[in-house]
Amino acid sequence: MSVTRIETRPYDGQKPGTSGLRKRVAEFQQPHYLENFVQSIFNAIGGDQRQSLVLGGDGRYFNREALQRILCMAAANGFSHAIVGRGGLLSTPAASCLIRKHSATGGIILSASHNPGGPEADFGIKFNGSNGGPATETVTARIHECTRHIDHYLTLDARNIDIDHDGSQMLGNMVVEVIDPVSDYADLMASIFDFPAIAKVLGNGRFHVCFDAMHAITGPYATEILERRLGAPAGTVINGEPLEDFGGAHPDPNLAHARELVARMNGDNPPDFGAASDGDGDRNMVLGKGFYINPCDSLAVLAANAHLIPGYNGRLAGVARSMPTSRAVDRVAAAKGFDCHETPTGWKFFGNLMDAGLITLCGEESFGTGSSHVREKDGLWAVLYWLNIIAERKQPAHAIVREHWRQYGRDFFTRHDYENVDATAADALMHDLRESLPGLVGQSFSGHTVSAADDFRYVDPVDGSVSEGQGIRVFFEDDARIVYRLSGTGTAGATLRVYCDSFQLDPSLLEVDTQRALGSVLQAADDIAGIVSRTGRTSPDVIT
Ligand code: G6P
Ligand code: ZN
Repeated sequence: MSVTRIETRPYDGQKPGTSGLRKRVAEFQQPHYLENFVQSIFNAIGGDQRQSLVLGGDGRYFNREALQRILCMAAANGFSHAIVGRGGLLSTPAASCLIRKHSATGGIILSASHNPGGPEADFGIKFNGSNGGPATETVTARIHECTRHIDHYLTLDARNIDIDHDGSQMLGNMVVEVIDPVSDYADLMASIFDFPAIAKVLGNGRFHVCFDAMHAITGPYATEILERRLGAPAGTVINGEPLEDFGGAHPDPNLAHARELVARMNGDNPPDFGAASDGDGDRNMVLGKGFYINPCDSLAVLAANAHLIPGYNGRLAGVARSMPTSRAVDRVAAAKGFDCHETPTGWKFFGNLMDAGLITLCGEESFGTGSSHVREKDGLWAVLYWLNIIAERKQPAHAIVREHWRQYGRDFFTRHDYENVDATAADALMHDLRESLPGLVGQSFSGHTVSAADDFRYVDPVDGSVSEGQGIRVFFEDDARIVYRLSGTGTAGATLRVYCDSFQLDPSLLEVDTQRALGSVLQAADDIAGIVSRTGRTSPDVIT
């Protein structure tokens, strides 16, 4: 098997976004498209760093073919070892766990996360570094630079490797080790949480849980952990078989897309606790009986109850949240005396803080929560964390959240998304908003007076790197806030995200409907940015 050098030319637009390169499958199927990007990753990390690679994906259409091609390229580029999840499967958090456990050089995860899968839908490739986390901005910038100048790639002319059975094989000079995708991750979970306590609750026949894997990667993980190791009855995990097109659905755990779970939670005899994860297993949505738990509140509750989780030894080093996430967790940090960091949107910003020991827990409003056990957000981990709290406190989820609000106050939060907006109109909206910032302070909009406004700029406290232009923040004197930013993960047009939050301490107003509670703030958001007039949209496509 000899190494072949294939001549190629750069493709435009191979710039990694919030989470790697995410495009339509058809784009990835263009000649050399995938290879250009993968070779650029290898070029960016440098020859002496090419030792061992963890490889797997969320099982979507094109996963298996892409994996075979990447294996040949890894072997041709001098990697000595590849660790592959059986069937080409690995959830994002499990890949992070394996990179760390095997001290690998890094990993390539094949996923477009919560975007739909199938021949007409999306595919994605992301690179994670040796700490198990998404490549930093410096590395992704280097990868992008390499994609702009690439003129050849290296591969092997080899037959397909058997990825469906555990064991080692040689591919050129590289050892390919196919392993069970679930067991290392499940062992890690057992080392963090009180499995016997959770098992008592799940096995008592009175507390019913429903986990919707949405025909995506968490099916095998949730089945092994919840049903086999923790003894929940068979059927606790629904849609547990990973499918290449996720059954035609949109594997995004929110109220709009987790349809079967929501129907069960609203049906006769609903489960006591419901949860769902996304395509690649890093997001989570948790639901109490008749009770939606906002991801911002979820993070705050996890932080407030960390002392109940054996793996954290009673203390958190600190917490972090992405800027648009509500400030609910800040209030817990202030009360408990640990630091709270505010980072731009994107999981990659948490890695440095974790590696430096500055934080233990972190989360984002986009249904992501995680801790330093890996360097990715982790859907199933969040579900187990909740179950551990429920087991310790002997209270259902809704009672835990209500008590939390009474103690800390409630941060009402909503996000309104305007999808596939004309990119020029969206850019102009953001540009004009930015220009208007200096004049906003002191002005009132729908009864809210602006106290401060800026374009969020992040200085990483660990390496001093600066990320500019991370979203427009408008603060009001009454502690309400609006954030505007354009999504970095969309694959068509522009997605404008508008995040609104407000704080309520009055016990009689804690249960108001969120959209009503934030009505005047939402109106102010339109007054300030002219969303309706500029985008032509009278209502958002998605509300979370
Ligand atoms: C992915 C990233 C998250 C990010 C989310 C939304 O899930 O891993 O870190 O919060 O996308 O990003 P976007 O740029 O679309 O708002
Ligand atoms: Zn995801």
